[in-house]
Amino acid sequence: MGEAVGVGLIGLGVVGSGVVRALAERGEYFARQVGAPIVVRRAAVRDPAKPRNAPIDPALITADVDSLLADPAIQVVIEVMGGEEPAHRYVRQALEAGKHVVTANKELMAKRGPELLALARERGCYLLFEASVGGGIPLIAPLRRDLLANRIASVRAIINGTTNYILTRMAQEGADYAEALAEAQRLGYAEPDPTNDVEGYDAAYKLAVLATLAFRTRVAPEQIRTEGITRLSARDFLYAAELGYVIKLVAVAERRDRGLLARVAPVLLHRDEPLAKVDGVYNAVQIVGDLTGMVLFEGRGAGAEPTASAVIADLLEIAEAVVHRVPNRAAWSPEEELPILGPEEIENRYYIRVTVADRPGVLARLAKCLGDNDVSIAAVNQKEANEDQQTAELVIMTHRARESAVLKALAEIAELPVVSEVSTFLRVEE
Ligand code: NAP
Ligand code: HSE
Repeated sequence: MGEAVGVGLIGLGVVGSGVVRALAERGEYFARQVGAPIVVRRAAVRDPAKPRNAPIDPALITADVDSLLADPAIQVVIEVMGGEEPAHRYVRQALEAGKHVVTANKELMAKRGPELLALARERGCYLLFEASVGGGIPLIAPLRRDLLANRIASVRAIINGTTNYILTRMAQEGADYAEALAEAQRLGYAEPDPTNDVEGYDAAYKLAVLATLAFRTRVAPEQIRTEGITRLSARDFLYAAELGYVIKLVAVAERRDRGLLARVAPVLLHRDEPLAKVDGVYNAVQIVGDLTGMVLFEGRGAGAEPTASAVIADLLEIAEAVVHRVPNRAAWSPEEELPILGPEEIENRYYIRVTVADRPGVLARLAKCLGDNDVSIAAVNQKEANEDQQTAELVIMTHRARESAVLKALAEIAELPVVSEVSTFLRVEE
């Protein structure tokens, strides 16, 4: 057995505690796999007095991250604290000190990944981040290795468990958004401040990481058109189901002739699509390669145990490299600069729900706005009229149309005096 590989954790919350528990329970097995024991030397947290859900000697817990980063007996730093700063500073410091890093931090990798990976390579250090996307689902390693021979055509993913849980409740039980969110919070899926999840930011960070690897181009989160789920109503799920669709928050990156489409938004998916059947807190990622065709990864995208599984996979890869003294030589670097496409270059079919005055000629005025912008209507359905307010709902499905044209038509429709509101606008994902 070789000399022990020393580990320092920054963060001992849900994921950090899961990692410590797994190391305690399976340490001997890991040591046999790697050829050396893996020993937690220190864990840095915000509040060292807090009780921990992990078998760790309290003497190892500190609030002093710098002391951990300066400890020569620590060869691998596991960053599981989250957020961009100070995580970014700590990871840089660790790499500069010649330490390897495992991180579960999607925000960090989405915003700073290429810069940190370049630094890691320069120092011969590993920076691995399997847990940053999809919790326990293997995604980063397949993109780094198993799918490397492919030219990737598209990545389509349900990669936020919280929103998938909320949308599943809305679809299956007719719950409204607020009710489904409250339930997700009660069960501990959604955080007290759910903004990151429900506005799509969490999914956009994850898509940025996946797309950057898949297409070997830099995709920053701010380049991803991101729409959340907060405006959806239970009625949309009903109307979508009548048309044969479900509504899911889907992250898409797709190679098109003139560049890359990159978007996170709730969309209509035909009920027979594989992603349409992914319910509750489950995640799934569908990747199309030119050699493999479609491959589908599905599983638990969050939680202490699944995420610890991914962190430890990275840790074991690094520990083995430490034992055999193999420096990192591989690094991600962009192959090409793919422009990110804007709405003027994207075409889809669209689902539109508009609340209008229930009067003669109203439908014709809406149809004119769409027609004037070269948007062709495929179907119209008038839904429940509100007799008190003398309003009605129109659900319109369009034929394929340029997105910029549809957005312009909708802006005009919203200005019509007979329109109370353009309530919902969703793409049909095909
Ligand atoms: P968490 O439960 O909130 O734990 C965060 C930990 O970091 C806590 O132990 C906290 O200390 C510590 N911390 C926060 N700020 C710190 C600072 N400035 N200095 C030192 N320690 C600090 O978070 P988590 O759910 O474990 O998530 C950790 C990371 O994993 C995030 O990047 C998250 O996105 C990612 N991730 C989480 C999941 C999941 O299912 N939870 C899944 C995949 C990826 P205290 O305990 O003293 O407050
Ligand atoms: N908040 C995330 C989700 C889990 O709901 O999927 C961590 O990535």
